[in-house]
Amino acid sequence: MSSIRTAVFPVAGLGTRFLPATKAIAKEMLTVVDKPLIQYATEEAVAAGMDTLVFVVGRTKNAIIDHYDKAYELETELGLRDKKALLKIVQDVVPSHIHCVFIRQSEALGLGHAVLCAEPAVGDKPFAVLLPDDLIYNKGGASCIQQMVDVYNERQGSVIGTQTVAVTESDKYGMVAGPKLADRLSRVDEIIEKPSPAEAPSDQAVVGRYILTPAILDKLKTTKRGAGNEIQLTDAIAELRKSEEIYAYSFEGRRYDCGSKIGYLEANVEIALQHEELSADFKNYLKNLQID
Ligand code: G1P
Repeated sequence: MSSIRTAVFPVAGLGTRFLPATKAIAKEMLTVVDKPLIQYATEEAVAAGMDTLVFVVGRTKNAIIDHYDKAYELETELGLRDKKALLKIVQDVVPSHIHCVFIRQSEALGLGHAVLCAEPAVGDKPFAVLLPDDLIYNKGGASCIQQMVDVYNERQGSVIGTQTVAVTESDKYGMVAGPKLADRLSRVDEIIEKPSPAEAPSDQAVVGRYILTPAILDKLKTTKRGAGNEIQLTDAIAELRKSEEIYAYSFEGRRYDCGSKIGYLEANVEIALQHEELSADFKNYLKNLQID
């Protein structure tokens, strides 16, 4: 049985960068090739042994709730028409051993606040946080969160997924610094939310994958508004670091920033190129594409 059973998905953002697409639907429901973004994240968590998926939702999130609900009419119809493969695709969105919890974040007070909203479902056990905007793909290898669960099992402390970025980009990320402990693994001695390049402690950026000990919840209760006037998870982690060791793990895999249009397009192109049914036709199409 996995040591980390609960995964939290903060999905209450407004998705303003994708308007008008996100006027009535959540940005996490935008599709990458043939699956909504959120499903890449939930599949990653389920494959790593998590069985309680906690969605912290905001306005316009009904499509997410429906996506993770049983679709009686659709399933009955597909069954009657003997469409077994399609029925399996629909039912596999939520495997039968998975428990979904939906919690409403009524005010958009930031990522830290969203994680705190999950407290009633998280309890006193370590848990994962996955930001679906960050689609992380590790072809043929363990997923990002699986790699981090392995680190947690070895170190028994909070683990933050990181990657190297250009320092000029530091004001888009939480940035961490600390001594290297092993291949891909460092200790977090400093963590700052969206510093200017001049203030960035290193070129190591936090990506949307965390494994956190439950002590983070108490820290979040007293975290004041920080960058962007929001309650930042990064600030609570900086407090937690004073009482517990925290690890930064530079994961193996490719991250697509699907919170930006360009990252979203890159994810669509690269995942289509690896898609069983589509890759040959799509490669052919791209080869013959005239770009002037
Ligand atoms: C959030 C976190 C930030 C992290 C980023 C990764 O920021 O606050 O520390 O680096 O996710 O995607 P956001 O992108 O929600 O502004």
